[in-house]
Amino acid sequence: MANSLNRRTWIKSSALMAGGLAFFSGTISKLAAMPVLKKIAPLANRVTDQAAILNGGPVLKARLLANENPFGPSPAAKKAIQEALDLSYQYPMFSMGTLYNKIATYEGISENNILMESGSSPLLLAAALLYSKGGKSIITGDPSYEDLPSHAQQFDGKWVKVPLTVDYKLDLDAMEAKIDANTGLIYICNPNNPTATILDTAKLKAFCERVSKKVTVFVDEAYIDYLPDPQASTMINAVKAGHNVIVARTFSKLYGFAGLRCGYVIAQPETIKALSIYSTGFSLSATTIAGAIVAYREEAFLKEALQKTLASKEYLYSVLKKEGYEYIPSSANFVMFPLKMDSKKFVSEMMKRGVGVRSWQFNNKEWCRVSIGRMDEMEAFADAFKQLS
Ligand SMILES: Cc1ncc(COP(=O)(O)O)c(C=O)c1O
Repeated sequence: MANSLNRRTWIKSSALMAGGLAFFSGTISKLAAMPVLKKIAPLANRVTDQAAILNGGPVLKARLLANENPFGPSPAAKKAIQEALDLSYQYPMFSMGTLYNKIATYEGISENNILMESGSSPLLLAAALLYSKGGKSIITGDPSYEDLPSHAQQFDGKWVKVPLTVDYKLDLDAMEAKIDANTGLIYICNPNNPTATILDTAKLKAFCERVSKKVTVFVDEAYIDYLPDPQASTMINAVKAGHNVIVARTFSKLYGFAGLRCGYVIAQPETIKALSIYSTGFSLSATTIAGAIVAYREEAFLKEALQKTLASKEYLYSVLKKEGYEYIPSSANFVMFPLKMDSKKFVSEMMKRGVGVRSWQFNNKEWCRVSIGRMDEMEAFADAFKQLS
């Protein structure tokens, strides 16, 4: 039973129809059908400020620019990854099935509701391609995570940006009001990157139920593990109830797997099938899968990483307050605050002091986004910040 399930997953997700050759030719023809790949913006532009990578990467004392979790991966995940090396000459078809099965069981869904990739980024790209086809538009908050709509825009799609509310939350009513016959997708990032604000769960649930009757709703829950009770806030329940909702999750944040690359979406089986056209479904390595199987819902580790993140965040709040700065209260592992100087200059001055952060400009203000790191990194931030504030 387990084997047949696993084999089904392997066949479904790898296009392995009749032996290895078919897999390779299937994958290659899928890639060829994606004239798309060469159009994608360089990594440095997509992940973080280019300067941060080109000038500051190796010498950073505090790497607070990509919302990673420096407390991970867990020791048990690292051990599993090391142990997986011996068999890493094998394609990981069976272990991939185990990971699908673990997630499906925990969430009370079918494996057919899940599509996994090496991080959620490839799935954001798949959704961008699927839902912007034919010049359709993607509605997002502004500012919000730009990966999906900017990919859409690089191809046929249009990007409809809706300003945040006065308290820097996604403006669901205004976003809904923007829906028209050309809308392909509404993208909701909750908690929102870069403002780290969250939506009221009941309001978002009602929005998903109502709006998904008109257009697909994509809820990016990359940071949901930082909430006190993710299960109470997730929109996976809307998928379970049969609504036209896609929920994206990643192991890159609280699990500490950003470099290992593991993410997934949960949606209706027909949506998963449609997204699969734009996914090789076979990008996860044996080592990442082995680590993710052990790390998934490893509650003691997640709790400890969350507590350490919260302690570092409280310290950051106290530094900002002491220096006379306001900040947006954060529901994630990063904090956004308005600067009193040019934001690009601020980033570059911080970089000179070995501290990597990111800048934004919106609402006629200059902003800094600081990721939450280890306490020594937050202290390095504080030292450099005091010199500039
Ligand atoms: C909101 C959001 N979604 C998705 C991603 C992509 O994460 P990954 O591809 O590592 O899963 C990020 C990365 O920072 C993010 O902030």
